[in-house]
Amino acid sequence: MYDDNPTISHLNTPLEESKQGQVFFKDNLVEDDSKKKFYIESYGCAMNFSDSEIVASILSEVGYGPTKFIEKSDLILVNTCSIRDKAEQRVRKRLRVFDKIKKQRPGMLVGVLGCMAERLKTKFLEEEKLVDMVVGPDAYRDLPKLIANAEEGEKGVNVFLSREETYAEISPLRLNSNGITALISIMRGCDNMCSFCVVPYTRGRERSRNLFSIIAEATDLVAKGYKEVTLLGQNVDSYKWENPETKEVTSFANLLEAVALVNPGLRVRFSTSHPKDITDEVLYTIAKYENICNYIHLPIQSGNSRVLKLMNRTYDQAWYKERVESIYRIIPDCAISSDMIAGFCTETEEEHQETVDMVYWAKYSMSYMFYYSERPGTLASRKYEDDIPYDVKKRRLQEIVDAQQEVALQHNIQDIGKTFKILIEGTSKKSKDDFKGRNSQNKVTIFPKKDGVKPGDYVMVKVKEVTSATLKGEIV
Ligand code: SAH
Ligand code: SF4
Ligand code: F3S
Repeated sequence: MYDDNPTISHLNTPLEESKQGQVFFKDNLVEDDSKKKFYIESYGCAMNFSDSEIVASILSEVGYGPTKFIEKSDLILVNTCSIRDKAEQRVRKRLRVFDKIKKQRPGMLVGVLGCMAERLKTKFLEEEKLVDMVVGPDAYRDLPKLIANAEEGEKGVNVFLSREETYAEISPLRLNSNGITALISIMRGCDNMCSFCVVPYTRGRERSRNLFSIIAEATDLVAKGYKEVTLLGQNVDSYKWENPETKEVTSFANLLEAVALVNPGLRVRFSTSHPKDITDEVLYTIAKYENICNYIHLPIQSGNSRVLKLMNRTYDQAWYKERVESIYRIIPDCAISSDMIAGFCTETEEEHQETVDMVYWAKYSMSYMFYYSERPGTLASRKYEDDIPYDVKKRRLQEIVDAQQEVALQHNIQDIGKTFKILIEGTSKKSKDDFKGRNSQNKVTIFPKKDGVKPGDYVMVKVKEVTSATLKGEIV
């Protein structure tokens, strides 16, 4: 399933692999034909999907309206990801497609946004002739100007990384939404220097968004009928915002509590938690509020302490295990998921086996699994040789995937006979007679529709059967 190392979203689960690149699955999007049109595709993590909604909001201020039809657009934007080589290859392929469309629509503009724009900067314009603008993640406010210049035939680049930009007061245009669940960006950038990772280079320094703007956004979403928010950051546990007037400091635990208190009917999710930073205070806050979901994405990357040290993750196996034990002690029905990288530089068979063992030990409900892809400019690319052969990486990845599938199935089997509160998100893709939703543990749950029940409602569902990926049941 993972053998081509897909760029699945890892920051949160609402964005599955199938949604990569997809922009508008909002059925009720009304396109205003009097406006100029932009078409936007997003790749990579939830942060990128969230950024695309900020971009859409900025563009709507200058008279551009969204379209889901690429051939109707005046401006194609592609919000890109650099996390693995495959992610970049995929975008290059899309640019070939845009090239053909552009030939039939002279005057149409093409812009590259996001992490690849930041990584490649002006090189992008040299390598990809059709691109009219290259805009990094902190420069979206400059888009109107860059577009105006491009309309005059002047190509532009803005890849300035900011220490302050959080787009705090911009109200995202919810493109990517079912009207029930929404993403809220709470911070940007990353100050960790995991040796394999390109994000600190493409997203810049970590900064936290103003607490009040986050609460205002959540409150507004509730008023519009939304039922679930996912708070996004590369390392949410290091959220820290100081009120410039009172000097009062808000931690992630404080923020979680404040969002939970916005409305008891609003579910709160968050991603990603870092094993070195997740505190007991956060765990007690999750346990205290029914509407904070009992689900933590806690990527381990490797189960072996030596490899973790090379990865510069700043925790070891024992530390990670202690955090997992604390989660299960404080929040007994919590589900934990992970990210793992197979075949990092110098990893031995024994060390790889410790990652496989960790899947069983931690009992992950699910995981995103990758083989190591060397990224130019990262610490690992400079210091270590990418010395594990491709077929060994793939075999090790498969072993992790197999273990995870087995553990996920066991995890789900334990749920048979249990009743969960499910937020209905819509109709199941496989059957129009079924609804799909998720429980607090973030497990996708499928059940037959019933009169008087609609998407956005909470229902109690008793689980009857399971696969490794879904629960199936009936409303009780
Ligand atoms: N901030 C998050 C993860 C962001 S990147 C965290 O610290 O957990 C998402 C995932 O992509 C990572 O968890 C890692 O498993 C994977 N990843 C990152 N760089 C990679 C690389 N060079 N090769 C393979 N996988 C990588
Ligand atoms: Fe990358 Fe590490 Fe930051 Fe996650 S915490 S974004 S893996 S550097
Ligand atoms: Fe996200 Fe990819 Fe950038 S994972 S932060 S879009 S490199």
